Amino acid sequence: FKVNVSQVQSEVSPTMWGIFFEDINMGADGGIYAELVKNRSFEFFKPLMGWKITSPNTLQGFYLGSEITIVNQPEKASTNPRYLHVNLMNPNAKSLGISNEGFRGMGIKKGLRYDFSVFYRQKTAHTVLVIELVSSSGQVLGQTKISPNDTSNEWRKLETSFTANETDAKAKLNIWFEGNGEIDLDMISLFPSDTWKGRKEGLRADMVQMLADMKPGFIRFPGGCIVEGHDLSVRYQWKKTLGPIENRKLIVNRWNYEMAHRLAPDYFQTFGLGFMEYFQLAEDIGAEPLPILNCGMACQFNSGELAPLNQLEPYIQDALDLIEFANGDSTTFWGKVRINLGHPKPFNLKMLGVGNENWGTQYIERLEIFKEKLQAIYPNIKLVCSTGPLPNGPLFDYLNPTLRKMEVGFVDEHFYSRPEWFFANAKRYDSYNQKTKTKVFAGEYASQSVGMVSPENKNNWLTALSEAAFMTGMERNAGVVQMASYAPLFAHIDGWQWTPNLIWVDNLKSMATPNYHVQKIYSNYKGTHTVSMLYKDKQVSAGQDSLFASAVIDKNSQELILKIVNQSKDKRQISIQIEGLSKLPKTGNLIKLENENLEALNTLERPNEIQAVENTITLSGKNVDLAISGYSFTTIRLKTN
Ligand code: AHR
Repeated sequence: FKVNVSQVQSEVSPTMWGIFFEDINMGADGGIYAELVKNRSFEFFKPLMGWKITSPNTLQGFYLGSEITIVNQPEKASTNPRYLHVNLMNPNAKSLGISNEGFRGMGIKKGLRYDFSVFYRQKTAHTVLVIELVSSSGQVLGQTKISPNDTSNEWRKLETSFTANETDAKAKLNIWFEGNGEIDLDMISLFPSDTWKGRKEGLRADMVQMLADMKPGFIRFPGGCIVEGHDLSVRYQWKKTLGPIENRKLIVNRWNYEMAHRLAPDYFQTFGLGFMEYFQLAEDIGAEPLPILNCGMACQFNSGELAPLNQLEPYIQDALDLIEFANGDSTTFWGKVRINLGHPKPFNLKMLGVGNENWGTQYIERLEIFKEKLQAIYPNIKLVCSTGPLPNGPLFDYLNPTLRKMEVGFVDEHFYSRPEWFFANAKRYDSYNQKTKTKVFAGEYASQSVGMVSPENKNNWLTALSEAAFMTGMERNAGVVQMASYAPLFAHIDGWQWTPNLIWVDNLKSMATPNYHVQKIYSNYKGTHTVSMLYKDKQVSAGQDSLFASAVIDKNSQELILKIVNQSKDKRQISIQIEGLSKLPKTGNLIKLENENLEALNTLERPNEIQAVENTITLSGKNVDLAISGYSFTTIRLKTN
C-alpha cells in the first residue's frame, strides 16, 4: 500500500457513523426503557396480559367475598381508560393479590434499590398493599408495605422503595391486598434505581452505555417500520409521546404483527421512551438527533394504507411542529412545550426523515409536498428520504433518478444481504458521483449469515468481517456517503422478532456482537478527512488480493488511521509506504479483531470470544510492515505530528 497523508480527498462527515434505534426485539419496552412492569396501565388488548390474579379460589378474582375487576371508563381519561378495582372483605394475609411477570421476567440485582409507584383512588383508607419481588425459585427478594391514606376519591400517586437481597434474572412482582373497603389502582410501576444518569423512571444504564461507547455521530429514531405502522391508525405520532407518562396512550407495536418472525402478542409501545427522551438521549451521547416521521403512508409490506394527498396537512404540521419543538424558543408554542418539559436549550435539530421504506409514485408525490412546505419555512433542515427496492438489487437503493433529481439532503439506502454481497459491494460507492448535492445515508444494513432476515441468522464473525470490508468502501467514499447505521440495534434474547442485531441483552446484561466491535472502531476512529491510498500503484478499491482498505487522517488528534480487512484465511505480509510525513513515528497503535473461525460468535454467556485487542507496535525503517492474520480487521493509528 502507498498512503499520502498530504493528499486529502474529502471531508469525513462528523455524522458518518451513527445509530439506528427502533422499538423492535423489545428494544424500548422491555429493553432500554427500564420499566419492569408489563402492561402497567391494563391497556393492552387483553387487560390482564402480563398479570395474574393470585387467589386460592378457582374463580379468578374472587376470594371469600373479595373481588378484583378491571373497569373500562373512557370518560376517566381517553388515553388511559382502564384501571383495577379491588373490593376487599378482610382477606387473609397473602390470599388475594395480583402478580406481574415483567418482560420475560424481571431482572433484579442484589443490593439495588427498586422504586415502586401506583396511582390509587379511594373513599376510605382501610387497604394495605404488600409489595414483594419474588425470584424464579420462589424466594422473596425484597418487600415493603404501603397504606394509601388519601380519601378524596381523586387519583393520587403513591411511591415507595425497597432494596433487593439477591440477584435474579426472572423475578416477578406480587402485590397482596389486605384490609377491607374499595380501592382503584392504575399505572403500577417498578423501576431500578441504577438508571442512566440516575434519572427517575429512566433508561437502562448498561444499554445506554453501549451506545455512548460507540461515540455515534447521530441517532435515528424511532424506527424503522414502527414509524409507518401496520396501518395509519397505529403509526408513530410524536406528540402523543410527550408529558406525563399516564397520559401517553399506548398502541400496539408493529412488531406484534405477523411480519415478525416470532409473534409477540404482548408487544405494545407505552412511549415511556418518547420523543423528549429520544432527544435527551441524543444529547447525552453526543449524537445528532435524526427523527423519522410518517409521510402519510403505512408500511407498504403490510396494509400500505395511504393518507390522500389533500389530507396530508396533519402529517406536514407534525413535521413543522417537531422542528419548532426541537429548536424553537419560548416565543413559540412548541418551543415552550419543550422548555416546560425541562429543556430550555434547543436540541439544534438539523435533519428530518420523511417516511421510512416508502416508495413508488405514491411516495414521490407525498415527498414533493413535504419538501415544498418544509423547505419554505426551514430551508436549512436537511431532509432524509426513503427509496424503493430494485429488482435483484439490494433492498433499497439510492440509484433512483427521480429522487436524485429532487436534490433532497439524503437518500436512505437499506441493505440486508449475505456476506458475499457486502464483500462484493465494498466498491459500490467508488462509482458514485462524490459531488452530487444529495448524499447517501446507508440507514440500515446488516450482513445476513443465512439469508435475508432469516430467523436462523447469527451475528457471526463472517458477517462482521464482511461489514468491516463494506465500510472501507463507505469510508473511502465519504464525499458521498455521509451517514451510515447498522440495523436493528437491540434484541432481547427472549423477546426478539428479527435477526441479526447489533447488541443482544437479557434482563440483566448486554452483549456486544462482533458487528458492534466493528461499528465502534469505525465510529471511534472515523477521522476528519480521507487521504489517498494506492494498492500496487493503483487507487485502492476493494477485494484486491482479498484485501479491503481505507485511509483517513484526523486533524484534531493528528493521526493517520488505516483500516484493513483480510478476507482470506491466509496470513498476509503487508508493507505500507507512508508519504507526506517528515518521518515515521517510532510507535503506532494497532487494534485487531480476528478469528480463524468465521462461525465464531459472542454470546451472553461468553461475551468475549471476539473482542478488539489493542497493542502498541514498534516501527522502524521507512514503511509500516505488518503481518495481517487471516480473517481479520486491523486498524492502525499513527501520529502525524
Ligand atoms: O431493521 C428492521 C426493519 O427493517 C426496519 O424496521 C425496517 O425499516 C426494515 O425493513
